[in-house]
Order: sequence, then C-alpha cells, then structure tokens
Amino acid sequence: MKELISRAVELAEIVKKQEEVLVVSHIDADGITAASIAKKALEDYGIEAKVRFVKQLEKFEIEKIKDENKFIWFTDLGSGHVSHLADLDFIISDHHVPIGRHERQLNPHDFGMDGSIEMSGAVATLMVANRLSHDESLGELALVGSVGDLQDSRYGKLVGFNRKLLQFLDGKLVEIQKDVRFFGKQTRPIVKMLEYNIDPLIPGLTGDEASCVRFLSSLQVDPWVRWIEISKEEKRRIISAIVRHCINFGLGYDEIKRIAGECYILLRNPEGCEKRDAMEFSTLLNATARYGEAEVGMAVCFGDEKAFSRARTLLQNHRKNLAEGLRIVEEMGIKELKYVQYFHAGREIRDTIIGIVAGMSLVRNPKKPIIAFAESERGIKVSARATYKLVDSGLNLGKALRASAEAVGGSGGGHSVAAGALIPYGSEEKFLQILDEIVAKQLQNRTLSMSSPP
Ligand code: C5P
Ligand code: ZN
Repeated sequence: MKELISRAVELAEIVKKQEEVLVVSHIDADGITAASIAKKALEDYGIEAKVRFVKQLEKFEIEKIKDENKFIWFTDLGSGHVSHLADLDFIISDHHVPIGRHERQLNPHDFGMDGSIEMSGAVATLMVANRLSHDESLGELALVGSVGDLQDSRYGKLVGFNRKLLQFLDGKLVEIQKDVRFFGKQTRPIVKMLEYNIDPLIPGLTGDEASCVRFLSSLQVDPWVRWIEISKEEKRRIISAIVRHCINFGLGYDEIKRIAGECYILLRNPEGCEKRDAMEFSTLLNATARYGEAEVGMAVCFGDEKAFSRARTLLQNHRKNLAEGLRIVEEMGIKELKYVQYFHAGREIRDTIIGIVAGMSLVRNPKKPIIAFAESERGIKVSARATYKLVDSGLNLGKALRASAEAVGGSGGGHSVAAGALIPYGSEEKFLQILDEIVAKQLQNRTLSMSSPP
C-alpha cells in the first residue's frame, strides 16, 4: 500500500512538470471516467489537457501518438503495451494485467492486488489525479468507473481498494444501499427491470415480458412503475416471490444470492435520473463510447446537460442493438468445442458491443467460457467472457486470449473473466483450436481454492 501511494506521488510529480498532456484512454465507462478524472485534475493544476479515446492501443495507434510528440497519460490502458512505448514520454494508470513492471506505471497488479475486482482504471487514475486536484467529485466518477467495469459483480459489492474509496465517499457523496442488483431501478418500469435482468438468469421470467407482467400483477404490484416508486413492503414482497420462484426452478444458492447486494446511490444527482445510480450512470457512459461518442460521455461526466440528453438517446439505441444482437445469436446458434463455446457474428453485430452480447449469451450455458467473433475494419475482433466459477477453477481468459491471439499473428489480453483480442481474417479456426487447448490446461491445473473477498 505504501509503495502504491509513493508510485502515485512519483507519477504526479512527473505530470506536474508538463505544460501540456495528451490523455489517451479506453472507450468504455471505466475509460471515460478515468479520462474525465485526469482531464479535470490536469486543468485544476493549470496544465493544458487533450483527450483521445481508442478501442485498443494497437501499433498503428501508438505510431499516431508518437507523431504528436506530446507527454502522454495513458488511462485504463497501456499496461499491456509498455514494451512498445519506448520512445514516448508517458505515465500509465491502468488495471489490466501488465506484461511487465515499469517505473512509469501505476497498476494494482504490480502491488499485489487483483485489478479486475480491487481497483479500476478510473480509481488507479484517481490516485495520481488526487495529487493534482482536491475536487471530491472525482471520487464519485472513479466509483462509476469501477461499477462500469463490473468490479462489484463478483461479490455483489465493491472490495479491495475500491471499497476504501467507497468508505471515504459514503455518507457524503454516496449512499450504500442493500437492494436488488438489477439494472434500471431509477429509470425503468419494474417489468423491464425484471425482463432484462441476466444476472442471475431467472427461468420463466428473464426475456419474457408477458410472464413478468403476470408475475408482478399476481403480487398486486403495478408492473409499469419504477422500483424507486414502490414501498418497502412491496419490494420485500417482490424479492421473496423472486427467491421462491428461483428455488422452484432449481437455481442454486450461489445464483440466488446474486439477486441482492450493494447498490451505490450518487446523492448529488436527483432521483429518477440515470446519474443517480452508479450502475445506470456507467451504462449510460458505455452507450456513448461504444458508438464512437465517448466525448459525449466525458461531457456528461462534466455535467453538460445537452450531452446528457444525447447520451440518453444513444442509450435507447444501445438497448435496441443489444436486443437485436441477442436475437441474432439465438438465430445462428452457439457452437461448442470441448472447453469453450463460440459464435461468429460476422458483420451483423458491431465489434464494439460484441463483448456485451457475448456476456449476455453466456447465461444460456455458463459451464464453458464463451468466445464471440465479429468482423472489424482491422481484422477479426474477439471477445471472451466467463463466470467467476470458471475463474475459481483456474481459467484466465486474459492470458489464454493473449497466447492464442499471438500464436496466429494477432494480439489480445484483458482480465481473467473478460478478455478480448484482434486476430487476422481467416485465422478463427486455428485460434479456437489453440485456445481450447490452453483453456483445457488452465482448468486441469486448477487449484481448488475457496474464494473469499480480499
Ligand atoms: O472488447 P472487450 O469488451 O471484449 O474486451 C474485454 C477486455 O479485453 C478489456 O479489458 C480489453 O482491454 C481487453 N482487450 C485486449 N486486447 C484486445 C481486445 C480487448 O486486451 N485486442
Ligand atoms: Zn477498465
């Protein structure tokens, strides 16, 4: 911990000497909040800041960045590419599995932490930013980044360093509520919240509007009001009915316990607004980034109302695309190898949302990691998702994807439960073969460790 803080101080001192900084960040909710935190802190300190969002830090992006001849602050990315950054003046605040140590890098993995649950890219960035600005709202954004990165999903609450931040904000800017962990409590009718929930998948309810309406009506609850509008008693009635329903359908304790957990309310934002709930806020940001409008997401972080309205339109569009993506996967079917399952969406699903669709499709068969392919302008985009149960059994998708992608001339990486890669057109089959073998080895080498929150 002491070393982590001194690294943050060292990096902040390097940044303070700059007149101008180019922040390069990842196009997702964590990346947007990380970039917003860096930009705000730099400006508060009197340093000119520009931001660029990239899908991945590929070679051609690095070349473009080098041409600009600026000091770079990489946020929520960079750790997988330090070996290609030799000619650059930079710092990195990232949480993806690093390929090696670097004195200009602040990454939780280098300090004995698990960057997939204990610290997001936004929180890593906040550690440096805090030395440049005392704006407390930056902490709020960092929390949204962690939730956007699903760092709270493993244990139904934030843990590790994320929790330290949460405790600092608790009661001032944030309220911790024990509630259902379904998406849309602020803004969606209860029936939609239930219908679209996928964690856990509830047989007979998930994906079936008519059943959800019947289910709620039988409990004398209006399906078309929002969760925040009903009484505590009604909430209790719904939760116990859902639990009973899950038991009747044979769901195990591990799945049922995922229904409730911690939710994070951002107290400065009004009730009924996406920005009130960290989960909804981060989804709103994702909906901008995945459609090439990460700048809109960043403007939302800075409180811009026009951008907020645009982001809501993008969110509606995002929802439609996800539903359409799921329908496409259903139609084409998911194929199975011995250790992984996969589908190839070709050009039918955007490469920027293929990972989300893969994650949503995983619930149909959570026993094997799911691999999804989509064509992109620079090759085949691969997204892989798995359950924490598989991770506890030894699976590490980040490592598996990096090795199999490199074996076919591509590149990849990420986290143990969620990873991605870019591989040459036509190499899908070979890639799958190699990946299946690596996953087999990972699962065979498993050490049956009982997992508990750090
Ligand atoms: O794109 P997707 O959401 O599937 O990415 C999942 C994870 O894999 C992200 O954390 C991302 O940084 C990582 N990834 C990577 N290399 C790629 C694509 C994704 O390291 N080419
Ligand atoms: Zn991240």
